[in-house]
Amino acid sequence: MQKIFDCFLSLGPKIQDLIICGETNYTSHVNSSGDTQLALDVQSDLMIERELSNLACVYALFSEEQEKVRIIHKEGEYSVAYDPIDGSSLLDSNLSVGTIFGIYAKDFEGKNLVASGYILYGPRLEIVIAQKDEVGVRHLRFDPKKQEWREQERLFLAQKGKINASGGTQKYWSNQHQKMILSLFQNGYRLRYSGGMVPDLHQILVKGGGLFSYPATQDAPQGKLRKLFEVFPFALIFECAGGEAIDGKSRLLDLGIQTSHESCPCFFGSKEEIGLVREMDGGK
Ligand code: AHG
Ligand code: MN
Ligand code: MN
Repeated sequence: MQKIFDCFLSLGPKIQDLIICGETNYTSHVNSSGDTQLALDVQSDLMIERELSNLACVYALFSEEQEKVRIIHKEGEYSVAYDPIDGSSLLDSNLSVGTIFGIYAKDFEGKNLVASGYILYGPRLEIVIAQKDEVGVRHLRFDPKKQEWREQERLFLAQKGKINASGGTQKYWSNQHQKMILSLFQNGYRLRYSGGMVPDLHQILVKGGGLFSYPATQDAPQGKLRKLFEVFPFALIFECAGGEAIDGKSRLLDLGIQTSHESCPCFFGSKEEIGLVREMDGGK
């Protein structure tokens, strides 16, 4: 598995170069989630595919930009699902974006997720990696002068934070979700939402707590974020950091999966905030 981590460590500065130097134009192609692909979505997808396909331990690959799961090496041990550029619609406004990945023991299921992580392309290049059964998550920063990664202190969540971030079109939120979000604000929480789940969830991790929600809405009853390359990877990261990740009721990593691009409502946070989500029945 270290080989897969090494692959993402070496891809970080390469994808960052692509983001800095590449064009932010759209292609004429629409991906399986119905989003028009940017040239950068396609290029970074190919870059990751090329590097991961070289690893004999990789059994299958699946990406936001591909329709189907691809078997790479029949004898491989791990399957990797990834979102090459998460938040790519923020690229034109020059906000932070990320790459998310989940490493599964063979089949793509929440219970098989053994490690996950994300690369954050912000003013600095950073990577966060979680491994099942490890306490805390690794946090590394890239030193561009020395062209090397530097390990930082592990990230942990406190019992309770101050940040409240909720996605989805507000006029389509349920009354319960609106109530829950309002009660957090009334209790002193502050809004921090950029529209990129990587920087938004990274902020909660670095500041030590808070709540990120992407609920079921009238226009998107299954939420927006996809299980294999967005929801499950962050669920493992939040659990390893000492927080929780639920769909409103159940633990996200216990959920089954019917189709590879499936999405689900999701709530990631420190223990206290997730307790509140449970009390309010997932804001339903
Ligand atoms: P992607 O760019 O890979 O399609 O994903 C964007 C996602 C995620 O980063 C973010 O949390 C969410 O979309 C924002 O959605 P809303 O604009 O509906 O809040
Ligand atoms: Mn995404
Ligand atoms: Mn994406």
